[in-house]
Order: sequence, then structure tokens, then C-alpha cells
Amino acid sequence: MSGFRAPRGTQDILPEEQPLWHYVRKKAEEICCNYGYGRIDTPVFEATGLFTRGVGQETDIVEKEMYTFNDRSGGSFTLRPEGTAPVCRAYIEHGMNSLPQPVRLYYLAPAFRYERPQAGRMRQHHQFGFEVIGDGSALVDAEVIRLAWRFFELLGLSRLSIVLNSIGCRQCRPVYLEKLKSFYEKNTDKLCPDCRVRLEKNPLRLLDCKQDKCQPLAMEAPGSVKHLCPDCLSHFELLEKYLAIAGIDYQISHRLVRGLDYYTRTVFEVLPEDKGSQSTLGGGGRYDGLIQEIGGRPAPAMGFAAGIERIILNLNRQGISVPALPRPDVLLAYTDGETRDEALAVSEGLGSSGIGSVLGREGSSLKSQLRQANNLGMKLAVIIGSDELREGRAVVRDLQKGTQETVSRKDLGLVLTASLNI
Ligand code: HAM
Repeated sequence: MSGFRAPRGTQDILPEEQPLWHYVRKKAEEICCNYGYGRIDTPVFEATGLFTRGVGQETDIVEKEMYTFNDRSGGSFTLRPEGTAPVCRAYIEHGMNSLPQPVRLYYLAPAFRYERPQAGRMRQHHQFGFEVIGDGSALVDAEVIRLAWRFFELLGLSRLSIVLNSIGCRQCRPVYLEKLKSFYEKNTDKLCPDCRVRLEKNPLRLLDCKQDKCQPLAMEAPGSVKHLCPDCLSHFELLEKYLAIAGIDYQISHRLVRGLDYYTRTVFEVLPEDKGSQSTLGGGGRYDGLIQEIGGRPAPAMGFAAGIERIILNLNRQGISVPALPRPDVLLAYTDGETRDEALAVSEGLGSSGIGSVLGREGSSLKSQLRQANNLGMKLAVIIGSDELREGRAVVRDLQKGTQETVSRKDLGLVLTASLNI
């Protein structure tokens, strides 16, 4: 084995794991098409400023998790740590504000964060995300939550729950933050060292501190929903009404604040039953100030992203089996150089009629080619020996039944189509 390994916190996705990945991506694409979302792919790296401005200077992502590098021209770039800011950058860059609003976009893309790796927490992970840009109504918030929920249902996952909160807007949040700060300032001795720093820099984040020491205080802390301005409150009440109509259950938690700075009003997460800190399947919310923050004309927006690795972890935990990927059912076996050339030509001919096949391994005996066919789980072997070559025939062997028949090579396509029920 070479001394090289995949970098810590990254993984190879091997062929046997691909059916699960294919299943998740296919369901994501299927549901996004049904809800009217168009796919967008943005570059793997962006100008660093997009994230420092967009995600927020005081967030964990910007402070300690970005993969940032200078290229040869000296520009500073960062591997995408999340998908929302790049999608907003593309919305601005391509003048999507002149399209009928809102614009609905989705993505399936890797994201990079320098985190301490553990189950469900990777340095390279993959996100399925979707964003609705250009509509500030609570109906859109409900749409995004519905789409997230229906996606998990479509995957067959159960025993999940939605946690919801509203963290207000530029008008009401400062007033709330003052309340929160004064509550915590009376209790600094009960805070972990990180939270004492957060109290100055980003008091909202005190609410989702994972340290045992900070839990009791966070439970008692004032909640943002009780301090919303009339507009934010009526937005939240409308959202609750729409979710009730859609039949979607949720719990409100004043401790849900999310780790990115761009959120306004609605924030939500989807959690599995086992609610460890690395278990959140997906999260999102409204971010009405982000487009303007990164240089666009103001446009309200709302979105969600889920981690594919965590989805797969839960599919496995819940024992959900997924369809196998298509693979060839036919091995073409031959006995010498001439018959090998014919087998190659036959494989091409079958391929153009939609029948996939694999050639036996060069230099191996007929017996070992048939063993190879069994090991690969093939249904049929087509054998071309020198007699068959001369007579324009082939032997079709049913590897499961152990029977075989000799057929004319020109009828081979029809015979295989019938045997394989294609
Ligand atoms: P996020 O909560 O940072 O939100 O990430 C979304 C999801 O990606 C998480 O819920 C989790 O499933 C997965 N995830 C995040 N970090 C890791 C990691 N290190 N390893 C494995 N999975 C991870 C965002 O990124 C926002 N852009 C979501 C959003 C879209 N908000 C509005 N629109």
C-alpha cells in the first residue's frame, strides 16, 4: 500500500457505496423538479471576501474553518464552506433579479470546513441545498420547510422532527440582543470561557452552546419570538398557519439560532431522533440582507441545505435499502486471439442495441472466464470458440440455471433481449 491516504476528514466513495449516493441525489433532483427549482453549479472556490462578508466575520466558519489559499496571482480564494453565498453571488452576477421573481435554485455540491472530524462531521462533506430568492413572503418560508420535509419523507426516513424559531430582523433583533446580554451579564460566572467571549462578539450564539455548563442558563434565557417587532411576528404567525395547512409538525425552540450570520426571521433545522450535536440532518432559514451585503440590489431570500453524509448515515441506521445501479448481465467469453476479436466486435454490436456486456479477461481459460462471470453475478455468458466463429454462431449459457443453447450470431441480440427481459 502506498503511504498516501485520503486527507483526514475526507473519504473515498467506493462503487459499493454509490447506490446510496445515487438514490439521494436522484430523489433530490426529482423533488426539486416537482417544486419548480432549477439546478445551479457554482465553482468549488470563490473570492474569500464572499464568505467573510456573506457568512459573517464572527462565525466559526470564517474564524477557524475555511480552506483559504492565495493563487499565483496573489488573489485570496476559499474552498466553498457552504452553498448559499455562492448562489447569491451567481444570482447577482447573472442579473437574475430581472427574471420573474422568485428565482428557485438547487445544488448538489461538496463543501469544505476545517473541523474536528468525527462521525457525521467531515472536512469535505456534500450538501443538497435549495434557495428561493426574490420573495419575502411567509409562503416561501413554508415552501422551503415543506420541500425539506417532503424530501426526507421521499427518501423513506422516519422519526425526524423540525425545530423552528424566528430570530427577528434588523429592527427588533438589537432590542432582543440587549435583553439577552443583560440576562447573561448577570450570570457570567456560570458560562464556559468561549461563551464569555461570545457574550461580547455574538451573544445569540450563547443559546446554542453545547457545553454542559451553559445548558441550564440557555434554557432560562429570554426567547426571541417574544421580542419580535409586529412585522416579524405577523410573518411568523403566517408561517405557522401555512405549516398547519400543509400538515407539517414542528417544535419552536428559542435556542435555535444557527451558526451563520446572514439569517433574519425564520430559522429551522431537521433533526433525527438521536439528537447528538453532529446529527442535524439539515438546516436553513431566511436571509433577507445577504444579497445586499455582497453587493446586489436588496432581495429577500430563504433556503435550506442538508448534508448527504448525514442522510446516508440515517438511511443505514434506519435499514432503508435502495435499488442497485444498472450493470451488465452478460460476459463474453472466447478461446483465442481470433475469437477474442470477434467477441470484442459482438460486445460493440450488443452495446448499440442497449445490452451491456463485459469481455472475459485476456489470457485466461474459458473455465476461469466463466468463473469470473459467476463472481461478477452475471446472468448469461456468451461463448465464442473457434467452431462458433467459423459457423457464425455463439453459445448462450444461462449461468443461474446451468443450461445452454447454440444460436446464430446474427440473432444474438434478440435472444439476449428475450432472456434478460429487456
Ligand atoms: P449548515 O447548517 O452549516 O447550513 O449546513 C447544512 C448541513 O450540512 C448541516 O445540517 C449538516 O447536515 C451538513 N454539514 C455541515 N457541516 C458538515 C460537516 N462538517 N460534515 C458533514 N456534514 C456537514 C448551511 O450551510 C447553510 N448554507 C444552509 C442554508 C441554505 N441556509 C439557507 N440556505
